[in-house]
Amino acid sequence: MDNLGSLTRSHYSTELGASDIGKQVCLMGWVHRRRDLGGLIFIDLRDVKGLVQIVIHPEAKDIFAKAEKVRNEYVIAVQGSVAKRDDTNINRQMQTGEIEVKAAAIHILNDTLPLPIQIDGVAMADEDLRLSYRYLDLRRPKLQKILITRARVTSLMRRFLDAEGFYEIETPMLMKSTPEGARDYLVPSRVHPGKFYALPQSPQIFKQLLMIAGFDRYYQIARCFRDEDLRADRQPEFTQLDIELSFASQEQIFDLLERLMAAIFKEILNQDLPIPFPRLSYVDAMNRFGCDKPDLRFALELHDLSEILAHSEFQVFKSCLEHSGSIKAIAIPGGAEFSRKQQDELVNLAKHLGGKGVAFAKVNQEGLEAGISKFLSDSEASAMIDATEAKSGDLLAIVADDWDITCKVLAGLRNQLGMQLKLYDPASFAFCWITDFPLFNWDKENSRWEPAHHMFTLPKEEHLQYFDDPEMIGHIQGQLYDMVCNGMELSSGSIRCHRYDIQRKIFDVLGFDEADLKRRFGFFLDALKYGTPPHGGIAPGLDRLIMILTQAESIRDVIAFPKTLRATDLMNQAPSEVDSAQWKELHLKFEE
Ligand code: AMO
Repeated sequence: MDNLGSLTRSHYSTELGASDIGKQVCLMGWVHRRRDLGGLIFIDLRDVKGLVQIVIHPEAKDIFAKAEKVRNEYVIAVQGSVAKRDDTNINRQMQTGEIEVKAAAIHILNDTLPLPIQIDGVAMADEDLRLSYRYLDLRRPKLQKILITRARVTSLMRRFLDAEGFYEIETPMLMKSTPEGARDYLVPSRVHPGKFYALPQSPQIFKQLLMIAGFDRYYQIARCFRDEDLRADRQPEFTQLDIELSFASQEQIFDLLERLMAAIFKEILNQDLPIPFPRLSYVDAMNRFGCDKPDLRFALELHDLSEILAHSEFQVFKSCLEHSGSIKAIAIPGGAEFSRKQQDELVNLAKHLGGKGVAFAKVNQEGLEAGISKFLSDSEASAMIDATEAKSGDLLAIVADDWDITCKVLAGLRNQLGMQLKLYDPASFAFCWITDFPLFNWDKENSRWEPAHHMFTLPKEEHLQYFDDPEMIGHIQGQLYDMVCNGMELSSGSIRCHRYDIQRKIFDVLGFDEADLKRRFGFFLDALKYGTPPHGGIAPGLDRLIMILTQAESIRDVIAFPKTLRATDLMNQAPSEVDSAQWKELHLKFEE
């Protein structure tokens, strides 16, 4: 093994090109691949920027002998001169494919055990094994590229917001629980027996306090912790670009975020995002797409058939409408050709999403055929075709259920079909804003109102009067907005409640009693009484933004050291047991 000694890297691999021919260089990195072609040895040397080919000729006996010893993933330094490759050996697939480095010295800086996972090319090993050796998996150029993109995005965010007059301010990690709807991760206090800190679900309360303190424009690339059920786009610890502004309207916040997204897409993908983004009210989004995060890369809109079928004798429709349900349909382009199996798959998906099923009818030149068409009158059938704008060869997929289930099922079918029928270009981006959300949702299980987003949102001014009428609570809209891209919620935000009297009304609806309020948010409610400026903000999820920019399939691919769906770190085995001395020190006892 050789020492680094006074060796210094002169270039990264991809910095070399035809203009460097003849230059003496010193490169360092890993042996990505070694090929022994009898007389010649080729090494693809990999560093963080890419690959370059090293060639070792047999005449230089010492160097050749050393090159014969190196294996994949050895760490080496190579001194040599840049040479042009023969025309027949030029590799157009490789950034440095026009040149190679003729080795004059090779230094083996470290060897390696045989790797438990293959890192050359596509990921072959199963994900659990790759996560157990994450530091090796991270050597894969694909993952490196994603994390480097992430670093470029955060750097750009900082530059952009600094130029807009924002201050980056850190807020505590050990704090009192902030209510963002998920369960807290708790940290026991050693010095205060029986007491706990919570890790922040978001810096929400602190950023509002910073507005009260007068900082006017704040941001933070903030780590958030939420103990919730995980999915493909959720991690227990994740990152937000947390933003808050004083004296700003919803429009100003939209404009700021649109310009920020446009700058990011330009710098990272060299794409011009069309701004402003389209806006949809929550009700329109639900009616047209069945969800509040519609994928606008394709149409396939939902159509309401409840009125058309108001007098239907078909039992399923009749009983749905009698129970104040809703009947909606999508017209699947070319779906009349679907096999029974394809229809069954849609029905299974509907059931998986909580629905009872899907009714089908094929569209032909004359009208509707097959499926439920025999239960429909001619006038109903033709009105359905008109309403859904269906064409001959389409298939109507009809769902009759409670409004929320009908929406959920058809939104699920729509997303599935959009992908399956390739209704959009997967490399395209469709942003939109969803606005005018209800302030409260009715929690059926616990028979109480819960905040639709979070409880510090300012209601629309014209809806303030509804607080006095219990019947109208569900109609109060908040100054709430989500930024959605390709069917993914990328950001949420709101104009906050800066007035104590209104904040109190919100807490009253949510059913907090005085003592509970004081205990949980006393400090915050007090702060609101000391000259709080009107303010609002937003928090784009950084991990999700990087997923979109890099077309990553899983959120785990955009986080250096992610957790599994069971919130574990397979590499270091967290969460793990701690020794009894720590239990004692923290005044904790474990009960089965
Ligand atoms: P919200 O809870 O909607 O709002 O979160 C904002 C954004 O953070 C991302 N996000 C997540 N990303 C990965 N894993 C998770 N578990 C996860 N949860 C949320 C999403 C989401 O849109 N304080 C408010 C923001 C505000 O009003 O300013 C908040 O946290 O992209």
